[in-house]
Amino acid sequence: MSKMRLIPIIAIDGPTASGKGTVAQKVAHKLKFNYLDSGSLYRLVGLVSKELGVSFSQESQLYDIAKNLPVHFDGEKIFYKNQDVSDLIRTEEMGLRASAVGAIQAVRQGLYDFQRSFLTTPGLVADGRDMTTVIFPEAQLKVFLTADVAIRAERRYKQLIAKGISANILVLTQDLEERDARDIERTASPLTLATGAKMLDTSHLTVEQAVRQILGWYELTEL
Ligand code: DC
Repeated sequence: MSKMRLIPIIAIDGPTASGKGTVAQKVAHKLKFNYLDSGSLYRLVGLVSKELGVSFSQESQLYDIAKNLPVHFDGEKIFYKNQDVSDLIRTEEMGLRASAVGAIQAVRQGLYDFQRSFLTTPGLVADGRDMTTVIFPEAQLKVFLTADVAIRAERRYKQLIAKGISANILVLTQDLEERDARDIERTASPLTLATGAKMLDTSHLTVEQAVRQILGWYELTEL
């Protein structure tokens, strides 16, 4: 009798600037798994809606944008209609717009199938806000990755400065708190600790330590 083989999934959720993107990418790389950065899709909907002049109240237009996103990934790069938008979507403005469109159920519904399509062999590491709860609730390993807000603001500050973008730590802290509140308090797929999720506080961990912890948990999961 043939045994049905499940495609392994590591789902990682957590607040803004917790470092989950870097950690998730490294875990995927070590395991040679596919990687889904779901936040980049919300950021892209934020960018495209701005360029098309679609407001947050125009839900059916936002649904259409999300459902028919001509997007593809190439390594760490993200392309919209063959234009490299990797840097354009990484601004604080697009982070805030992503958080705003992420609160709209129609947008989440529009992105659902595309996110599920990342589930292919040999496995998937997916990061975002609802990977453990809504998109991949069947994940064998669920992680809630977080860090103190002051530490997250400092990490984001260093990232921006390193890119030559000017930043103000107080403004960044306020932005993070605003986004955290919206992502946690919204009714559509709020950021929450999923049943069975393991909590990983990276406030005092290096990226490598966080990666090792997740790989260690993964080794212990039963597929
Ligand atoms: O992970 P990130 O900072 O790139 O995400 C940007 C915003 O997108 C985040 O504040 C909320 C939204 N988002 C979401 O609602 N659901 C996801 N799965 C990922 C991101």
